[in-house]
Amino acid sequence: MSIPERRVRTLFDEAAIAKRNTELAQEILSANPEDLLVVAVLKGSFMFAADLLRALHRVGLSPQVEFVHLSSYRTGTVSTGQVEILRDVQSEVRGRDVLLVDDILESGRTVVFAKDLLMARGAKRVLTAVLLEKPGKRAVTIDADFVGFTCPDVFVVGYGMDAAHAFRQLPFVGVVDFDSGAPDLFDEA
Ligand code: IMP
Ligand code: MG
Repeated sequence: MSIPERRVRTLFDEAAIAKRNTELAQEILSANPEDLLVVAVLKGSFMFAADLLRALHRVGLSPQVEFVHLSSYRTGTVSTGQVEILRDVQSEVRGRDVLLVDDILESGRTVVFAKDLLMARGAKRVLTAVLLEKPGKRAVTIDADFVGFTCPDVFVVGYGMDAAHAFRQLPFVGVVDFDSGAPDLFDEA
């Protein structure tokens, strides 16, 4: 059976995600961001960032939007720790409040890498928003400023997140049902 045909069990449905995005936008507004630049970490955060940006608009914020494409090398579903820039931010970040948006905070290496990069370029503040946080998985010390949901220690897909390039299009976050197959299908970055 190919990956896209596998069953995905829903963990966070569309309504829960939409409600949480509205709440996150309020939390972000409360941090009084000035000259805000939202930097979405591709690819996994594209759907979350798109919805969060619209929620930010609805609470009255007018951020500029940028993208950085990072790749964290993985063996199967486990991060090896190296992060590479595949596409860099083009806007000036010096003196600005930046909101870094990513899909999952797991080892923390991706978010720390991006945060350090933006701080080194002179950002005034780098706030971080992640859709999901997996507790107890951190290899480096980092807490996100804004967290959508605490996620169980399972490999999740959907709402932008993939397993071997599949499932990004799902409007919800779910878990692939491996009952009928082997997880070695993930052996691709
Ligand atoms: P970290 O650098 O270990 O925190 O890894 C974060 C990145 O690994 C995320 O931005 C995701 O792209 C990816 N990742 C971690 N866990 C999962 C998962 O359960 N499903 C899909 N991608 C994941
Ligand atoms: Mg990612």
